[in-house]
Amino acid sequence: MSHPSQSDFWNTRYQSSATPWDFGGVPADLKAFLKRRPKGGRALIPGCGAGHEIKAFADAGYDVTALDFAPAAVARARELAGPALADKIIGGDFFKHDFPAESFDVIYERTFLCSLTPDLRPAYRDRTAQLLKRNGSLIGYFFYKNTPLEDGPPYGLAWGEADELFAHHYLLTKDDPVNDSLPLFAGRERWQERRRTAFKG
Ligand SMILES: C[S@@+](CC[C@H](N)C(=O)[O-])C[C@H]1O[C@@H](n2cnc3c(N)ncnc32)[C@H](O)[C@@H]1O
Repeated sequence: MSHPSQSDFWNTRYQSSATPWDFGGVPADLKAFLKRRPKGGRALIPGCGAGHEIKAFADAGYDVTALDFAPAAVARARELAGPALADKIIGGDFFKHDFPAESFDVIYERTFLCSLTPDLRPAYRDRTAQLLKRNGSLIGYFFYKNTPLEDGPPYGLAWGEADELFAHHYLLTKDDPVNDSLPLFAGRERWQERRRTAFKG
């Protein structure tokens, strides 16, 4: 049986439409963020899945790049985003793809971090910090549930864990409850924005 760290694990789920995490549109807090900060800049959506948010970023003036290592997710995202944005959607591994350091102004998170086993969280923090420009923003939805390993994915964060994980790389600038969560995440999702600091580990 494949493991969440392998693209096969996710690919088969897209192929059989077993995707209970898929929001099917653009969630409200992201819409509000894009309204608040509709400016040019480069945005990255790692683990984009069907990528409903790609067009929203583009429409708000961002040069958006989305990436997923499951070919069926990439195909779906390209189909949904349309031909004008298809080449902005890359098949690849977030941890290995050859993006230059400090490429992005914004990295958008939704159900990607919680798809990774908890041992990969420091690597996620380091990689996002590496790819963001100084003062760039890691924004999005963070899932809080102390999940036993055998029950995930999704693997939620324990309360306080994100503070410790991100403390030396990011400053938390917004932390709001989420009102339009899917049942899988209801009551346990926060909309958070973190600014990348100068710290180098
Ligand atoms: C739970 S899904 C979330 C998809 C999307 N963000 C959403 O909100 O619908 C997790 C996604 O992350 C992708 N993924 C997991 N590990 C990855 C990696 N190392 N590099 C790129 N994509 C990855 C999976 O293929 C899957 O599409």
